[in-house]
Amino acid sequence: MLVYGGGSIKNNGIYDDVYETLSSLNANIIEFGGVEPNPRVETVEKGIQLCRDLAVDFILAVGGGSVIDCVKLIAAGVHTKAPAWDIVTKKAKVEQALPFGVVLTIAATGSEMNSGSVITNWSTKEKYGWGSPLVFPKFSILDPSYTFSVPKDQTIYGIVDSMSHVLEHYFHTTAHTEFQDRMCESLLITIMEAAPDVLKNPDDFDARATLMYGSTMALNNMINMGFRGDWATHNLEHAVSAVHDIPHGGGLAILFPNWMRHFVQEDVNRFRQLATRVFHVDTSGLSDLEVALKGIEKLEQFWTSIGAPSKLSTYGITENTMNIIIDRAMRLGTFGNFASVTEADAMTIYYASL
Ligand code: NZQ
Ligand code: ZN
Repeated sequence: MLVYGGGSIKNNGIYDDVYETLSSLNANIIEFGGVEPNPRVETVEKGIQLCRDLAVDFILAVGGGSVIDCVKLIAAGVHTKAPAWDIVTKKAKVEQALPFGVVLTIAATGSEMNSGSVITNWSTKEKYGWGSPLVFPKFSILDPSYTFSVPKDQTIYGIVDSMSHVLEHYFHTTAHTEFQDRMCESLLITIMEAAPDVLKNPDDFDARATLMYGSTMALNNMINMGFRGDWATHNLEHAVSAVHDIPHGGGLAILFPNWMRHFVQEDVNRFRQLATRVFHVDTSGLSDLEVALKGIEKLEQFWTSIGAPSKLSTYGITENTMNIIIDRAMRLGTFGNFASVTEADAMTIYYASL
């Protein structure tokens, strides 16, 4: 079963490439298109039904994080009696999954080399991540030229998302992570170097390749061996996307600096290290806290400079829906491994982001 999104692969030639390759293998192809960004559980259920009805034995995801995440839940859901949403909410256990491969078309989530998936239930306005070792892709093909056609806004969201994954790892409480810290810093610096080149010239193969490799490395669990990163900002963002269906990377660009400012005192040295090593903040005459805050400012400035949003109001989000967003964020209890986010913390961060 060939799974894809809203049709971009039909405009940029990827669909034809894939079809040609599959035909040369004499594959019997069933198509399942129309997976939406922020993929919905109803779409997953349709895919599961199709797999059961037509005895599908292999799935090929051609797209970005949304298509891949949808395929992961289809693959797990086919062999699970319970509704797919029960897998997401961890009520049902995954015992078996259909094998699937990936042809990646956008540099962003890292889903192509991890076993996580993020699914939205639009009827309850919930969006959660789930994962299982059984839903690693069997292979992922990463051809940078397939990302030439990614529109500017989606390219920006991908850059922010991959940097945010590195930052989620970076904020942890484990001692002696010198090597991991340096890998994180290297990724951030390298992505920031390639970003302006790609935005200036979308067909820059080398810069697109750097972003593609960088976004995969940012969330394939190689840079965070031995510790757990924070991940609170992702939870905060998923709650906003669940209620307003905004792009994940856009939400992160707005929320991350505010999460950082809110929790900077938890470990000023770590924030200071980021500021000096990645953002080259001039420390002369400044306290550690001032250096740390300058680093956060520089991160925000970089994201703004490439065109990422910095306020929730960009998406028309106002105080009116704050209660429901906070409710969705807190539904599974407090969260965050570096700093625990309570309801009061969430409220402060969201209001600072308006
Ligand atoms: O729908 P199509 O036609 O494919 O168009 C997509 C979509 O409109 C378009 N696009 C992708 N490749 C393209 C292209 N347009 C032109 N040319 C190409 N080559 O880009 C738009 C966004 O695609 P999407 O797959 O939604 O983007 P992304 O990869 O950023 O995935 C976002 C989803 O992944 C989740 C997010 O929450 C969100 O639901 N995440 C998944 C993670 C994981 N599984 O590890 C981790 C992340 O933190 C994230 O939460
Ligand atoms: Zn993300």
